[in-house]
Amino acid sequence: MKTVTVELDERSYPIHVSKGLLEKLPEILAQQNGTRSWVIISQSSIMELLGSRLKAAGLHGHEIIVSEGERAKDFDEYRRVISQMMKMGCDRSSTILAVGGGVVGDLAGFVAATFMRGIDCFQIPTTLLAMVDSAIGGKTGVNLPEGKNLVGVFHQPESVFIDPTILESLPREEVVSGLAEVVKYGAIRDRDFLAWLSSELDDLDAFDLESAITRSCAIKAEVVSKDEKERGLRRILNFGHTIGHAVEAHLGYGNIRHGEAVAHGMNCASWISEQMGLLPAADRQFLSDTIAKLSFLPSPTLDPSTILNYVHTDKKTEGGVLNFVVLDGLGNATTSTQVSDKLIVESLATLS
Ligand code: GLY
Repeated sequence: MKTVTVELDERSYPIHVSKGLLEKLPEILAQQNGTRSWVIISQSSIMELLGSRLKAAGLHGHEIIVSEGERAKDFDEYRRVISQMMKMGCDRSSTILAVGGGVVGDLAGFVAATFMRGIDCFQIPTTLLAMVDSAIGGKTGVNLPEGKNLVGVFHQPESVFIDPTILESLPREEVVSGLAEVVKYGAIRDRDFLAWLSSELDDLDAFDLESAITRSCAIKAEVVSKDEKERGLRRILNFGHTIGHAVEAHLGYGNIRHGEAVAHGMNCASWISEQMGLLPAADRQFLSDTIAKLSFLPSPTLDPSTILNYVHTDKKTEGGVLNFVVLDGLGNATTSTQVSDKLIVESLATLS
């Protein structure tokens, strides 16, 4: 088992990565405080895939099944989960096991952060995206009709358990989409990792997912340890996301996979970095060639003013100033407040 630690003094926690970890979970959880009662929060599609594995391993607890997809993060769904926990007799010793992708992790984390002023939560991510990103770092929240993640808090989990074998039962396109976030970690923080990824991507069937996940988690853990509340360094995790989110919103959520939109956003952001004299052309080309190995479809034509509108309403804008993540060399991301609308619009041409 590989273990990475998120260093946050007394709130430090481990991320365990190991094939077959799901089967060992009951034994590992039994070593935690014996008076805990477990509340598994998940979705029916995930329980169909993993429920029998968890039950065969002997994991028992209250089960709360939330709506499929992003609807699980509706504010009303949050209230329903809290009410259900009250009916189940949950109290401050109850501990949440969030079994699912980012949507489940965000909702379950927010329930844990707020139920009776806060209870413990363990994250058991079931998508590649959740394994390398959303399950780590304590961002939790729900959506309002006015926008996504408008209500939330930072609430770090007690541990994160990652079993890469879970990905074997997922559609290949979903895993490949998650690989865009893995490529992001190389681009922003570790040039050698990006080079390794690029050669691994030449043969997707032999891709070493466990190593890729572990290194991605280590990079995220390092960044979160240095800047838990996203006041500075943590912003680099948004590389590719400013334009990526705008592309997702423009095309309609669900019409493009998140990783694919982020891949388009990374291509735009690296082109912008090159225009600003920060990223050598050969390095931009290397990143773009690596992203191309994920074989995403070209982006549909995008309306520049719609993209700009979304870019400026994004949470990465503070006090009207956009903090745009650029690459100051491959493997070294930073933020810039100097990225003009003109550059953003021109960068969209790199997608066609
Ligand atoms: N998903 C970016 C972050 O956790 O900060």
